[in-house]
Amino acid sequence: MVKIADQDAFKFDQTVHTVDTNRKMRVGIIGTGWIAEAHMAAYLKQPDVELVAGCDLIPGKAKKFFEKFGVTNAKTDYANDEEMLADKSLQLDCVSICTYNRQHAPCAIHALNAGVNVLLEKPMCVTTEEAIEIIRAEKKSGKVLSIGFQPRFNKNMQKIKKIVESGELGDIYYVQTGGGRRRGIPTPFGTTFIEDETAGLGALGDIGCYSLDLVLNALGYPKPLTVSGVKAAVFGTDPNYVGYGTHHEYGSKFTVDDWSAAFIRLEGGIIVDFRISWAMNMDTSGDTLILGTKGGLRVPSTECWNGILEKPLVIYHEVAGTQVETVIPLAPNDDLWNLKIRSFLDASKNGTPSPVPSSQIFYNQAILDGIAKSSELGREIELDLPEFDEI
Ligand SMILES: NC(=O)c1ccc[n+]([C@@H]2O[C@H](COP(=O)([O-])OP(=O)(O)OC[C@H]3O[C@@H](n4cnc5c(N)ncnc54)[C@H](O)[C@@H]3O)[C@@H](O)[C@H]2O)c1
Repeated sequence: MVKIADQDAFKFDQTVHTVDTNRKMRVGIIGTGWIAEAHMAAYLKQPDVELVAGCDLIPGKAKKFFEKFGVTNAKTDYANDEEMLADKSLQLDCVSICTYNRQHAPCAIHALNAGVNVLLEKPMCVTTEEAIEIIRAEKKSGKVLSIGFQPRFNKNMQKIKKIVESGELGDIYYVQTGGGRRRGIPTPFGTTFIEDETAGLGALGDIGCYSLDLVLNALGYPKPLTVSGVKAAVFGTDPNYVGYGTHHEYGSKFTVDDWSAAFIRLEGGIIVDFRISWAMNMDTSGDTLILGTKGGLRVPSTECWNGILEKPLVIYHEVAGTQVETVIPLAPNDDLWNLKIRSFLDASKNGTPSPVPSSQIFYNQAILDGIAKSSELGREIELDLPEFDEI
């Protein structure tokens, strides 16, 4: 067993930020629920941000939310995102969209049409058709659209991409990914994650999108061609399910997926074997495996998958005819939320490319939606996606 203990290996992408504090960015938050707190906390750390407005469909929620963070001069008396975006006195530069999934597309389209840069929470939306409409609005606006995949800023995730790009694994032909949770339906935060009318996608949209991004980003986001998938609610509707807490009050409301499996063909002949779960009678549905002609990479699954790695990466390969394993220790975690927000602000300010662009996440979204549609039809489907340039 060869162990690389050299932490210098992780210094490759340390970015030094110089922030022009003379030019402030005027920021608004759309949807002031649970994840908006992480956005707010990260914005408050930025020296060039003025939090000028927020809105929520629930009257009074945005006001309370801003007060909780000590931001008392922001305007919050809007009935919804459209009212806030129509208020030209705000002179918004940027918004974070922190609504539940079904409200991602309308809010993103409204904001882009209003000429505002958008940080859109993951998953990008619910359907491929919505993703196309968002991209059209983005292109028309010329503004920055970044999708909220904070694991992208994790050095270990970046390492996986570096390993694949280095050629160490040879030509990649098969990927297994997914993982999940033994008991992890996110009900403590209310029901917007588990009801179809708000979430649209369950485990698929919550954590499946992270598993796909982990491998597709490493592979350079090849276009997905076909999907054969299933999605199901195995535990969510069970009133006796015990997860983070007692579930009986939620069982009747559960109308999304908590389990999914799929077989996906990518351009270039790569196969993706995917499974994800919010709950199962198993510790894991498998590690992420990236198999190539020269080496294979194991990315160990975690107990409660949320896009962040917990155990070292292992490369299985041959050295001078001997089969060996190289263990790559994990780099310490950075403040991913700071990096996510900062990279979005920098791109918006400088007109530089989106840190997590729709041109990539479009394919992630098309696979999630492809699994849902294939599951409904009970057979493999062709995705038949337009080229990004043609959207
Ligand atoms: N990046 C991450 O780590 C992470 C973690 C959790 C959740 N998320 C994502 O964040 C999103 C929100 O999750 P949450 O747990 O905060 O949900 P939530 O239900 O707690 O909050 C969403 C809020 O948006 C409001 N809203 C909906 N439509 C609106 C509109 N048109 N205008 C104004 N307000 C509107 C709702 O009233 C609600 O208060 C989801 O898409 C989820 O996938 C990301």
